[in-house]
Amino acid sequence: ELSPIDKAKFVAAKRAADFVENGMRVGLGTGSTAAWLVRCLGERVREEGLTFRGVPTSTRTAELARDVGIEVVTLDEARWLDVTIDGADEFDAELNLIKGGGGALLQEKIVATASDRMIVIADAAKEVETLGAFPLPVEVIPFGRTASQALIEEALVSMDVMGRQTTLRMNGDTPYVTDEGNHILDLHLSRIGNARQLAMVLNQIPGVVENGLFIDICDQVVVGYGDGRVEVRD
Ligand code: A5P
Repeated sequence: ELSPIDKAKFVAAKRAADFVENGMRVGLGTGSTAAWLVRCLGERVREEGLTFRGVPTSTRTAELARDVGIEVVTLDEARWLDVTIDGADEFDAELNLIKGGGGALLQEKIVATASDRMIVIADAAKEVETLGAFPLPVEVIPFGRTASQALIEEALVSMDVMGRQTTLRMNGDTPYVTDEGNHILDLHLSRIGNARQLAMVLNQIPGVVENGLFIDICDQVVVGYGDGRVEVRD
């Protein structure tokens, strides 16, 4: 028996899995909700003989996808994708997102923007009026990380945000390392007044590889509820 939150994630994932058709190239997201999607798609492969190629957004997702019988290819092999289906940490009414809680934001953003459509699957608790309560992940290269962190903190002074604290994401006693060998800074902003501007400013800072704000990338959010209801926002 699933907890309400897992049920919400599952029903959203299950609905989105039905959007995949034979012959498609599909970006596969990362995180607990995306893991449900991958399992649902594996089930369709085994039970209906669905044939599609999946492009994973992390080593974790690649491993799971292979385990459940999905044909996995790289983005370079696929060239372009029909659709990417991924989770999110927050989404607002304009379908702008914060992603990267699971640390895979860089590959996720590359895969999503190489797709004709991006569909987000999320439990209803991820819906917010204003982005920013969830700490914003920013991927930085390890070289000179403290210098990049200082420049980010300096830039935040002139931004429309409430909090300004930045923390290095840890994995036990050592910095968390992404699939691309980078580190992640989490920006505790509480409220992001101008997400579009912040996303651009962050990516101008030397050492910053990418940030977790997905602006104008997502086309549809499939929202799951703990009682099994599903709503689609677009
Ligand atoms: C991974 O880097 C993230 O962008 C995930 O998509 C996000 O953290 C959602 O994860 P859950 O589905 O586990 O909440």
